[in-house]
Amino acid sequence: MALWGVSVGLMLLSLQSLALASKNFWLIQQRVLQLREERILKEVSRQQQQLSQGPASLKWQPLQMGYIRQPLDHFNKREPITFGQRFWINEQYWQKPGGPVFLYIGGESALSQSSVLSGHHVELAQKYGALLVSLEHRFYGRSINLDGLQDKNLQFLSSQQALSDLVSFHHYVTQKYGLMSNNTWICFGGSYPGSLAAWFRLKFPHLVFAAVSSSAPVRAQLDFTGYNKVVAASLSNPVVGGSKECLAAVVKAFGAVDGLIRSRQLTKVARDFHSCGALEGDEDGFQALSNLADIFMGAVQYNDESVYWGAVDGLCDIMTNHTLGTPYDRLIVANKLFLNVMELPCTDNSYADLLEELRSTVVSGSNDFFRQWIFQTCTEFGYYQTCEDSECPFSQLINLTSSLEICKEVFGISPPSIQDAVSFTNDYYGADHPKASRVLFVNGDIDPWHVLSVLKNQSSSELAILIHGTAHCANMNPSMPGDPASLVQAREQISSQVADWLKLAGKMHQGS
Ligand SMILES: *[C@@H]1O[C@H](CO)[C@@H](O)[C@H](O)[C@H]1NC(C)=O
Ligand SMILES: *[C@@H]1O[C@H](CO)[C@@H](O)[C@H](O)[C@H]1NC(C)=O
Ligand SMILES: *[C@@H]1O[C@H](CO)[C@@H](O)[C@H](O)[C@H]1NC(C)=O
Ligand SMILES: *[C@@H]1O[C@H](CO)[C@@H](O)[C@H](O)[C@H]1NC(C)=O
Repeated sequence: MALWGVSVGLMLLSLQSLALASKNFWLIQQRVLQLREERILKEVSRQQQQLSQGPASLKWQPLQMGYIRQPLDHFNKREPITFGQRFWINEQYWQKPGGPVFLYIGGESALSQSSVLSGHHVELAQKYGALLVSLEHRFYGRSINLDGLQDKNLQFLSSQQALSDLVSFHHYVTQKYGLMSNNTWICFGGSYPGSLAAWFRLKFPHLVFAAVSSSAPVRAQLDFTGYNKVVAASLSNPVVGGSKECLAAVVKAFGAVDGLIRSRQLTKVARDFHSCGALEGDEDGFQALSNLADIFMGAVQYNDESVYWGAVDGLCDIMTNHTLGTPYDRLIVANKLFLNVMELPCTDNSYADLLEELRSTVVSGSNDFFRQWIFQTCTEFGYYQTCEDSECPFSQLINLTSSLEICKEVFGISPPSIQDAVSFTNDYYGADHPKASRVLFVNGDIDPWHVLSVLKNQSSSELAILIHGTAHCANMNPSMPGDPASLVQAREQISSQVADWLKLAGKMHQGS
């Protein structure tokens, strides 16, 4: 099941991911992040080289990386435990002393230096002379204590605590640079951090003047059936290389796998799809199905990334190629190609292995986020990407009951309390009618997550842009020569909105 949704925020940082409970999606996401990071570092070193050959006044100012001490619990001042939270600062473009501050918010994965080096927000910082700062999310990356993943500590992992971390970080940066009220703060985030960006403005309007919220699933939902409806629509959308034939072939192929699993022909499924071990029981069959579905979900969600197997057009070429045999045979080929590209010998479909991994509280300090993010879905957001809707192309075995199982198995959290948590999140933040001001919601209509976001203008200052033909967080990536016109136009709209906000802030300042 996938609940991934993640967000990669781009840069990885944020990954923007979100989702899931089977491993392939997770691997896809890691791969996307890794490729992004490599592209960014290459581009950054090219720019730095250029600068180093130019006049001394343009010399590259080194970035700063550091940690601030945060209370583990912002809401209980008697709780003495603290943790170190990682941040980056890039002063390169800042027009001191009056220039604005652009805050890039981290999310459900490790953040990196690219959070202040690359992306559309960095292009905007260059244009508007902003100080760039970014903050890694608590409990992800290196912003976690060694015992942080233990159950007793996970209670301090929540969006409310994360917003309070942003408050402290705002204070820290303000002190460090002696900022005044005329240093206008604008925050940026994509995917879950896109929600945090909107919510930071909503709850702390005195600290941040405006927010750009990209691909943000601000409406929490337990049973996120809409995700796979968009996946189906994207697989049949010619704009991204899909077709009706492609979708029909995917439906047939998964129908065949579903039939094999229901009739307990698990040995055949394991062999045909290169399972690492035998499929022992329904749960492993469910994992096998979910892992196959992940290949398609990942292709849609990350369609704009250059992971060549991942794009919808490449998968659809295989799924519609009659010389490869029946749709089931073509799915075998697609899976094989996926394994090749990911350099995997086989797919790990063991539910027992998955549970063991999720229960592990060892902090490796690298990029682990699976346990933490699943915890946040169980306690705040739901977002279970089920396949119960008749338009879902995969298998109805991927249902809510099986998806919620993981919360119970790993954290002992029962389905009714997950539903309560989701309702609370929506009441607390206003779901997709947040009644904030000066927030720009940006989404792509290929992205399965867009259905949980704000897609229409809510008021004259709570605005929405829906980009035709782009996937998750595409607008946050650095501008590229081959970008579609709709994306180029959206970035221009975002830029002119930022300019308008800065103008307005300047006027309000003079008036006061
Ligand atoms: C910002 O405000 C401070 C105090 O209100 C003032 O001294 C300073 O000149 C202002 N800076 C700019 C760039 O407007
Ligand atoms: C279909 O697959 C065959 C075998 O791999 C390949 O040679 C052929 O080029 C493919 N056809 C299309 C239209 O992609
Ligand atoms: C959900 O799917 C599981 C198998 O994955 C099945 O055992 C269960 O009966 C299904 N539940 C419902 C409510 O359809
Ligand atoms: C939303 O508001 C913006 C700015 O006022 C406007 O340019 C745009 O046309 C509006 N969009 C829709 C769909 O009404």
